[in-house]
Amino acid sequence: MLSAEENALLCQTGPGTPMGELFRRFWLPAALSEELPAPDCPPIRLRMLSEDLVAFRDTNGNVGIIDSFCPHRRAGLFFGRNEECGLRCVYHGWKFDVNGDCVDMPSEPAESNFKDKVKIKAYPAQDFGDVIWVYMGPQELKPEIPQFEWARVPESHRLVNRWIQKNNYMQAVEGEIDTSHGSYLHSRIDPSQREKGFTFNGSQDGAPLLTVRDTDYGFVYGSRRNAKNGEYYWRVTQWLLPSYSLIPGGDSWPKLGHMYFPIDDEHLAGWEFLYNPEAPLTEKQREEGLAKFELFPSTFKLSDGALIDISNMERSSDNDYNIDREMQRNEIFTGIAGTRNQDRAMTESMGPISDRAGEHLGTSDAAIIAARRRLLKMARDLQEGIEPVAPYDGSLYHVRQIAMTVPEGDFDEFLTAYSDEGVGKV
Ligand code: FES
Ligand SMILES: [Fe+2]
Repeated sequence: MLSAEENALLCQTGPGTPMGELFRRFWLPAALSEELPAPDCPPIRLRMLSEDLVAFRDTNGNVGIIDSFCPHRRAGLFFGRNEECGLRCVYHGWKFDVNGDCVDMPSEPAESNFKDKVKIKAYPAQDFGDVIWVYMGPQELKPEIPQFEWARVPESHRLVNRWIQKNNYMQAVEGEIDTSHGSYLHSRIDPSQREKGFTFNGSQDGAPLLTVRDTDYGFVYGSRRNAKNGEYYWRVTQWLLPSYSLIPGGDSWPKLGHMYFPIDDEHLAGWEFLYNPEAPLTEKQREEGLAKFELFPSTFKLSDGALIDISNMERSSDNDYNIDREMQRNEIFTGIAGTRNQDRAMTESMGPISDRAGEHLGTSDAAIIAARRRLLKMARDLQEGIEPVAPYDGSLYHVRQIAMTVPEGDFDEFLTAYSDEGVGKV
């Protein structure tokens, strides 16, 4: 459990909050590159860490991420004209480039130098791995983009998806590093259908033993399940600062990475990175990867400061995710179709910000406890002037997840024997 004060420290990421400052030390995924498909294409709305922003791709292909509100009289720049290396406000024609400089101010006399004194808030942005990344922190501390393996493989080897969800980012982060829920939430009732659900390589052990090892980039944790013939089934998850995870998936490629990013304190952008370092994704893998999110909201509008979905979701909290009680009795544990729907139903059902004072954590929650401790410590440290290390070494993010059945051993022995440099380095 966490006190109300600790919970607020963990969950609040708006400007000036300690956790918000920590997030602002990292390059962060802002949008899919394909959302700004071409130079001078229409701008898109973003809300990131409770800041309302607009992203546009200029004539040279560079991405600008700037304040949503025009510094003249605060009109919405989403309505702006994207033209000749700048976004022009349609109210009185002021125009801003990707650096936030006002490059034209036609509503003022030609001899005025007022435009040289006006700037709009602008954050550095860059395309990498089919994702537009943004850095929202102090200029003099600009770090490196994390060099994830999924971002460095050829485009044909990966699929990136993004969706939005109605809950605080940390609830979803905690779901990622919670291996034990896979034995329940995603399981099937009918034994003959079990292999279609989460099988854990045949292990029916629903009480995995967890071991967490802190690393420079976050931590690596192993969960050990008893398997057939006295062997152990290991699942090794990488948790990377500030809110990424590489989950083991099955025993073969492609595998998945996730990131949960705070849109604001009550909404998140979920990112899924499906990739295979060894071969291009097949047509089927690509189709299945896309189908999973077809019905999820990925676009939104802001109305009176509130975020509203503009997609038609088949399953949402409004319709109880179309839970089928008959299916729950006979087929699948939840009665809610789709793994991601099941995860989303659980994390949204906790409320927009879970009241962690009401929890009772067990041994299977060891990784969740470790992630909270780490983030809280780093946010407090930063308040004391102690800067995080991970943002400044992108190569720390060269790690992999592992799923494997082996004869024996504890976590240290497993890592030494079966992973490079002990932590799944690639
Ligand atoms: S409000 Fe944008 S130019 Fe006037
Ligand atoms: Fe899950």
